[in-house]
Amino acid sequence: MTDATAARPTGVETELRQTHPLPKFSLSDASPATLRTPLLVAGVYSDGTLTAAAQTLDAASRGRLSAVLKRGDLEPGVGSTLLLYDVPGASAQRVLLVNLGAPRDFHEHSFFKALYGAGKALGRIRADEGSIALVDVEVSGRPLAWRIMHAARILADAGYRFDAPKQAKDDGTQRSRGARSLTLLLSSKATPGLETAMRRGAAVAAGMALTRDLGNLPGNVCNPEYLAETARALGRTYGFEVEILEREDMAKLGMFSALSVGRASDHPCKFIVVKHEGGGGRAPIVLIGKGVTFDTGGVSLKPGDDLDMMKYDMCGAAGVLGAMDIVGRLELPLDVVGIVGAVENMPGGNATRPGDVVRSMSGQTIEILNTDAEGRLVLCDALTYAERFEPECVIDIATLTGACVIALGTQTSGLYANDESLGEELFQCGMDTGDRAWRMPLWDEYQEQLRSNFADMSNLGGRPAGSVTAACFLARFAGNYPWAHLDIAGTASVGGDAKGATGRPVPLISEFLLRRADRSPARS
Ligand code: BES
Ligand code: MN
Ligand code: ZN
Repeated sequence: MTDATAARPTGVETELRQTHPLPKFSLSDASPATLRTPLLVAGVYSDGTLTAAAQTLDAASRGRLSAVLKRGDLEPGVGSTLLLYDVPGASAQRVLLVNLGAPRDFHEHSFFKALYGAGKALGRIRADEGSIALVDVEVSGRPLAWRIMHAARILADAGYRFDAPKQAKDDGTQRSRGARSLTLLLSSKATPGLETAMRRGAAVAAGMALTRDLGNLPGNVCNPEYLAETARALGRTYGFEVEILEREDMAKLGMFSALSVGRASDHPCKFIVVKHEGGGGRAPIVLIGKGVTFDTGGVSLKPGDDLDMMKYDMCGAAGVLGAMDIVGRLELPLDVVGIVGAVENMPGGNATRPGDVVRSMSGQTIEILNTDAEGRLVLCDALTYAERFEPECVIDIATLTGACVIALGTQTSGLYANDESLGEELFQCGMDTGDRAWRMPLWDEYQEQLRSNFADMSNLGGRPAGSVTAACFLARFAGNYPWAHLDIAGTASVGGDAKGATGRPVPLISEFLLRRADRSPARS
């Protein structure tokens, strides 16, 4: 069991590292009617009301837009699109109409959905550039900078594709789609504040793309070493200090809980620490990610159906690395520490058995009643390790429980906090980005479900409130600082035809970091 056997070649490593480039953004106050562009995107409401940009086009084309809409070809539903060619009077080669839904219910969520629909359509159309006239709409009183930031993020994220491992087609069609540059049209002049908003949105999308790539990579490529190498690469790009603790280092620290998960894997455990020092003289924000690069369940083996989805069990780690990428890109004036517990949960002759007892780094002992409840075993040692940073707060991100998917489905992450204001702040960040999380309880009464006859606690809380008892387990290790936990089991990836990583909860987390940066005393 050496790193050499672990690095068995797969023949796809190098291609897999190349991701589809995200578009470049710019701002312009050009008029939608006279702008020469391969593609112009404009919004219309479902009752036929036109946005200002669409009105301009309609006037220039002597009512062509209204006429088309009257025929009813634009499907109902926010975010549906209709592509028009040769609109008379317009200088754009094509016009893409986007349904904004009913003007009365046009709020943040429909704004996000409309942008997502536009972004998806842009990815299908073969145009190198696009001009988007969607930010000059009224969205519940949100300022223009807010609309620009989310437009850049969502348009870029909607065009994300993970097609690197597919053999390139001879005609080159596979990689040529999707605009390389997108211009957001404004009715006023761009200002430095608006440019910043645009850059922030694009940076969040780039961090999400890294998160999604890491999630989508198969388990035979994205193993603990790969996560460590990704962290090192971030360090080289942004000047982060990166420390990789090996198995022996972890043993010296007493991380026997985390180590128990990776025991039977040929890929040794890695404990990854990435530090960004943006100054400000404030205590750091610590982000911790569950990095189980594949979760078989261990000896408590999972059933075979959809087991491939367990390659996504490192999406918390991917989210932390994606967030660090954003922090580095934007040089946020904050101290941020990213921690990833990277392990592979395998069965085998050396594997942890149900009933085994281990001592965690905190000194608390754990009876491992189910080796499939492994995420908490990794996170608890990371939570103890985080104490050394005397953090302002700690947020862990984990695909922790199937029970969270039963409770909240695939739309909403589970949000737990031992600190009311931190919990509320994160909740708001979810609401404001559409990357929503719902607050869940950590009441002491649930702790009884973790009672063990043979150790300080068991790692299994039983079926009732499975997401809550998992969080309660973590809370026992997070008593010394304000802490929050995001259970992203349902939100980090989707199954079925659109199978893939979503990049969540990077929008929520980056919103949190941006808000903290904006109120940092070191803000430049
Ligand atoms: N990685 C899983 C949780 C999960 C389930 C994530 C479905 C995404 C989709 C986690 O390690 C796990 O197996 N949890 C168990 C805990 C149980 C044994 C207490 C679960 O949820 O069934
Ligand atoms: Mn598991
Ligand atoms: Zn797991």
